[in-house]
Amino acid sequence: MTERLWPDVVMHVVSGKGGTGKTTVAAAMALALAREGRRTLLIEVEGRQGIAQLFDTPPLPYEERKVAVAPGGGEVWALAVDPQEALLDYLETFYNLKRAGAALRKMGAVDFATTIAPGLRDVLLTGKAVEVVRRKGKGDADAYDAVVMDAPPTGRIAKFLNVNSEVSGLARVGPIRNHADLVMGVIASPTTAVHLVTLLEEMPVQETIDGVAELRSEGLPVGGIIVNMTRPPMLTPEQMAHATAGTLSVGEITAALESCGLGAHEDAIVPALLREAADHAQRVALEQRERARIAELDLPTFELPLLGGGIDLGGLYELAGILRDGGMG
Ligand SMILES: Nc1ncnc2c1ncn2[C@@H]1O[C@H](COP(=O)(O)OP(=O)(O)OP(=O)(O)O)[C@@H](O)[C@H]1O
Ligand SMILES: [Mg+2]
Repeated sequence: MTERLWPDVVMHVVSGKGGTGKTTVAAAMALALAREGRRTLLIEVEGRQGIAQLFDTPPLPYEERKVAVAPGGGEVWALAVDPQEALLDYLETFYNLKRAGAALRKMGAVDFATTIAPGLRDVLLTGKAVEVVRRKGKGDADAYDAVVMDAPPTGRIAKFLNVNSEVSGLARVGPIRNHADLVMGVIASPTTAVHLVTLLEEMPVQETIDGVAELRSEGLPVGGIIVNMTRPPMLTPEQMAHATAGTLSVGEITAALESCGLGAHEDAIVPALLREAADHAQRVALEQRERARIAELDLPTFELPLLGGGIDLGGLYELAGILRDGGMG
């Protein structure tokens, strides 16, 4: 079995350009990390209920719920963190203010506080993840072996995680400041890894390169790169060169069409196939360039295939298996 890449990491943060598969990869990662009887928690912070949809369960309440069982008896739990509930949670945990919290909620004060101060909102969301991570050290019965966060996209991730600078305009001293320091102490430590999901396309790869630089400049721990939705080349390198140069053998294509009973339509089909082949060769060449740019980052990299027919639980297990084989978990 491959050596584990991040044996000491407890919090895995998954970011990337919008739509590249952050939620899917985070879920697969939680499954991969739940190997051999381990328990992982998948946390969602953007109120979109993407995890519930993915695991085909009812919308997640602000409560940890078991959503899947991993091969070997592990468990994946999920939690959709909501800033309002996280604030009440915080008031209750640190100040025993449960009843006051309920009154604040009625007054709409919670909504107000989290809306006027986005920095407060973020520290509450990351703070919840950190609270879960810290359970392990305390030996709590409801501790998890790993926490995977389906985080905001690359454009916002450094700011989202760097709660210190976020609350600096909000609170220089006092409980919020102390809380932010504690949260930052966990997020900026070697027990956290921020992974970026990308596609083999120019824009997401550029965003990944910029994201890695930004995370590093903020002192945030970069983990690996997950190249999602990859497609294997359908032609050999030699065929690809011919496709690009327009020198594929028309005779061979015609013969192949005839052998499957399409000979009568070859006048229409052959030119279309040649165009398709040229497009395909061009795309593969472009993907190779993007792959090379990713390799220059010199970070652990995983490639996940594009699964036909979308992502169901079976697909998640398949992606999780690839992540595990690559050293995740
Ligand atoms: N490897 C894959 N193979 C096939 N489909 C995939 C794969 N990964 C993701 N998808 C599909 O791509 C779409 C986007 O994935 P997902 O929701 O995980 O992206 P996201 O980055 O979380 O998006 P958003 O930025 O909107 O949160 C979904 O329909 C998902 O099922
Ligand atoms: Mg998502």
